[in-house]
Amino acid sequence: MMNNLKPSERILCAIDTVNVESACDIAGSLKPYVGGVKLGLEFFGANGPQGFQKVSQNNNNIFLDLKLHDIPNTVAKAIHSLMPLEPKIMTVHTAGGPSMMKAAAEAATDAAHNVGCQRPIIVGVTILTSLDSDDLNAVGYQNNVSIQVVKLARLAKECGLDGVVCSPHEIKLIKEACGPDFKLVVPGIRPLDSAKGDQKRVMTPYDAVRLGADYLVIGRPITQSEDPVEAARKIAKEING
Ligand code: C5P
Repeated sequence: MMNNLKPSERILCAIDTVNVESACDIAGSLKPYVGGVKLGLEFFGANGPQGFQKVSQNNNNIFLDLKLHDIPNTVAKAIHSLMPLEPKIMTVHTAGGPSMMKAAAEAATDAAHNVGCQRPIIVGVTILTSLDSDDLNAVGYQNNVSIQVVKLARLAKECGLDGVVCSPHEIKLIKEACGPDFKLVVPGIRPLDSAKGDQKRVMTPYDAVRLGADYLVIGRPITQSEDPVEAARKIAKEING
């Protein structure tokens, strides 16, 4: 159960840079103090699998956040292609539908078996927090954001995904709907003493974990700090309360 994680293991540091060297530096120095680091489309687009592998030599707990969304066969093949990198967490869009999510979950199991690595956790992106109810109506969703998020989270669970990415404000609703073992990966986290940056709806690490967040995705409060290691240690203490 995720509840057994140490506070530091709940922290996933978002390394939002295209610079491989600085990504390696920070990933390496944070290794004992966080559960992993997140590399996304920006880093992967610029540096590809080779860049990933360099970071992984410094810290092999990598959340590869590529938000896959395509036909089931293509998503499954993409997961097979990425598995030799041995990511620990990967993301797919729940809007890809039930067959796509099932194909992703199955591909993760098969590909990990083929590679001989630990099966990554596959989490679904529900509704991007950049979308509000007007945006959702514009693309044809009739429900309001939280109803739609819970609907997609339930579907993700039924289709074999291990959890979803969600905003701090959806933690409680999703835990109630999907149960304690369905993993919630939560960005939009700000420690007590840090700037919000461009995040609008934020929550402290302590509150998010109390509500049921399993992993906290935290970027700038760590990466932009003068002392990232100290910032991560403080956050772990803050989670403890
Ligand atoms: O620097 P900060 O802590 O805001 O970084 C949060 C990370 O989580 C970034 O990589 C951002 O892209 C990601 N994210 C987010 N909100 C979402 C989904 C992902 O902030 N809804």
